[in-house]
Amino acid sequence: MKTCLICGNPIDPFISFGKMPIANGFIRKEEFAREYFFEMKVAHCSQCNMVQLIDQPEREQMFNENYAFFSGTSKFMGQHFKEFADEIKSNIANKKDPFVVEIGSNDGIMLRNFKNDGIRHLGIEPSKNVALVAQKDGINTITEFFDKELARKIVEKEGHADAFIAANVMCHIPYFHSIIEGIDILLNEDGIIVFEEPYLGSVLEKTTYDQIYDEHVFLFSLHSISYAFEKHGFVLFDAVQQETHGGSMRYYLCRKNTREISDNVLALTKHEKEIGIEREQTYLNFRDHCEQAKVKLMGIIESVRAQGKRIVGYAATSKSTTIINYCGITDQHLDYICDTTPIKQGKFSPGAHIPVKPHDEFQKNYPDYALLFGYNHEKEIMGKEQKFGENGGKWIVYVPEITIK
Ligand code: SAH
Ligand code: TMP
Ligand code: ZN
Repeated sequence: MKTCLICGNPIDPFISFGKMPIANGFIRKEEFAREYFFEMKVAHCSQCNMVQLIDQPEREQMFNENYAFFSGTSKFMGQHFKEFADEIKSNIANKKDPFVVEIGSNDGIMLRNFKNDGIRHLGIEPSKNVALVAQKDGINTITEFFDKELARKIVEKEGHADAFIAANVMCHIPYFHSIIEGIDILLNEDGIIVFEEPYLGSVLEKTTYDQIYDEHVFLFSLHSISYAFEKHGFVLFDAVQQETHGGSMRYYLCRKNTREISDNVLALTKHEKEIGIEREQTYLNFRDHCEQAKVKLMGIIESVRAQGKRIVGYAATSKSTTIINYCGITDQHLDYICDTTPIKQGKFSPGAHIPVKPHDEFQKNYPDYALLFGYNHEKEIMGKEQKFGENGGKWIVYVPEITIK
């Protein structure tokens, strides 16, 4: 029997999505035969409420010198992280020579805002190709996995940090207690921890099951974050919902009794209880909703194909790997997926092996329908693709509802 990564309680999966590949493992033809798969099962821990994968691939299989996700591909996210950085800057403004540490800093999308102001910063980013983009821009970045041993080395070299920040990476790390211990070693007595990650509440409310893929070993809530951090003397003092990635939560933590707890924490914790995040039945309902969403999406795709219409996937997001492989979308349904990331282009999508092509291909020869895998970038994408609609093209969107527009 498996046990919870946070509290050690026995856990049982409430759903299996079947065999899944590495979500960002875009692949060449000659590598098809060696492609790695694992069974993607998800459990809810009844003791600490952490929702988690039962099995996860080794970290080096996902995060390495060929990592395919470059944060800077979205302009909207650039602006989002500028605002995130501004908030942190105002929080540490009273410090003399403040020091900010970010893990999962990727191509430097967040830290460039500190670098530009001459604020002491350090990015910790194990995927060497994305880290190199930041390093070339003069953003201090080390290519390591963060854990408590690394935290000790950083303190020896740079001293304690005033802010520990992260986005879309805390939920990737199964050795979560070592991360919190690392933060404890690293952080000043009155330092702050701020990170944002896909939110369990949004996943349940919108059935965005595509937030579940190999990298996302956890789906956090205020309940589970408080539980994990309180074991190490930290408290959640604020939480603010974000629209990014289809619904995220930004968590603010500090050492006990160093800051006032905001009303948000109480209100959101209460809301989590109301939507049933502590109840097993909620997860069984979620499982049914996933199944229904799959049937509905495939119904639309197949009826469009039966009319002889062409469909193209728009944006080869990590999330789309779950949708494609769970629903059974193949190259019989989609001609190709277009994406602006050079490292993905000319390769094939993980698992289903649908060709990935540059974005120009889409504009050169519009399909009848575009299946919007990048729904979290809907505004940005619709904004630049107005001509597609003007030429009679239609979008198939599946979040928050399955719609054709
Ligand atoms: N923060 C960026 C990138 C998120 S992708 C954004 O929100 O857009 C997650 C990143 O975390 C990847 O670049 C991956 O290489 C990195 N990562 C994974 N495990 C890590 C660990 N243990 N320590 C630091 N970074 C890690
Ligand atoms: P994400 O959903 O994980 O942020 O991944 C975004 C992916 O979408 C990335 O591969 C780049 C791609 N993309 C496009 O192809 N066109 C766009 O206009 C945007 C914003 C993203
Ligand atoms: Zn638990």
